[in-house]
Amino acid sequence: MSEETDYQASYPATRLRRLRQTDWSRRLVAESSLSVDDLIWPLFIIEGNETSEAIPTMPGVERHSVDHLVSKAKEAVELGIPAIALFPNTPVTLRDAMGSEALNSDNLICRAIRAVKAAVPHMGIITDVALDPYTSHGHDGLLEDGVILNDESVKVLVKQALVQAEAGADIIAPSDMMDGRVGAIRAGLDEAGHENVQIMSYAAKYASAFYGPFREAVGSGNILEGDKKSYQMNPANSDEALREVAMDLAEGADSIIIKPGMAYLDIVRRVKDNFDVPVFAYQVSGEYAMIQLAAANNIMDLEAAMMESLLAFKRAGASGILTYFAPEAAKILNGLDG
Ligand code: PBG
Repeated sequence: MSEETDYQASYPATRLRRLRQTDWSRRLVAESSLSVDDLIWPLFIIEGNETSEAIPTMPGVERHSVDHLVSKAKEAVELGIPAIALFPNTPVTLRDAMGSEALNSDNLICRAIRAVKAAVPHMGIITDVALDPYTSHGHDGLLEDGVILNDESVKVLVKQALVQAEAGADIIAPSDMMDGRVGAIRAGLDEAGHENVQIMSYAAKYASAFYGPFREAVGSGNILEGDKKSYQMNPANSDEALREVAMDLAEGADSIIIKPGMAYLDIVRRVKDNFDVPVFAYQVSGEYAMIQLAAANNIMDLEAAMMESLLAFKRAGASGILTYFAPEAAKILNGLDG
């Protein structure tokens, strides 16, 4: 960037408000923009038929049985949303210490993947690789004497990724934060002939209070033993995010996720400036809930706060955003909002 003083006249010859006078001029000089192509819609799944149930901690978001999920996927396609991200709420009776249900090729997520693929084959399906929806202790990896085992967990995560790819997932998104899992998953996928399945790695995922509503949504909140600080990152750190991203890219990640989103826009920008790869931001459940609840209490305007928050991710350098606002934002971007 050149020194501003080198070429810019000072006031009153320069008046920055001149460019902001009218809507057409503001649009003409906008430095970033949001499009439907930037949106990824996370969706929650439950067992059952013709069922959708509200998630009290996430106003406006529901868990859907597979048939209802298919309707949501069709809605996503109609709105032009490129991809959805799926999260199962596993029945408690199927959760165990090892997260075994994650490896069942007929589990909820696999049935959901197959149903969505059959109904809307040209939409991207992203699946989360981590054991927390399946473990009785609520952790993303295997737990032994209060310690999350790394290499043992990676072995299981590779199998989980293969089960999802086999069912038809287009993008595997490891959110577990174990060391070395991206390389192991890439090797496993390639060996099984899934060399075209992408890996979107949650490279920089912080141990955050903003996941609270999500844990309620997938049913792991009240069973989580302790916290996830031994594997998710310390919110104090930024250099460490660059190391995480560098390692995941070296291991074969196609794109990366920064999570949470709004409180970590500096990380999005630093990563984008340091690596020429697609960077996604996850506007997580707590961020969504804050905006929804503030709007419900007439503290902020929902539409304005939602669109501003999403545009901010683009300004920070994100290629796209995982957001529970995806369908509402898409309607606005498509000019369908009343
Ligand atoms: C699980 C996972 C979490 C989220 C996505 N995948 C929660 C966690 O790590 O505890 C959070 C998403 C959100 O809050 O919207 N590995």
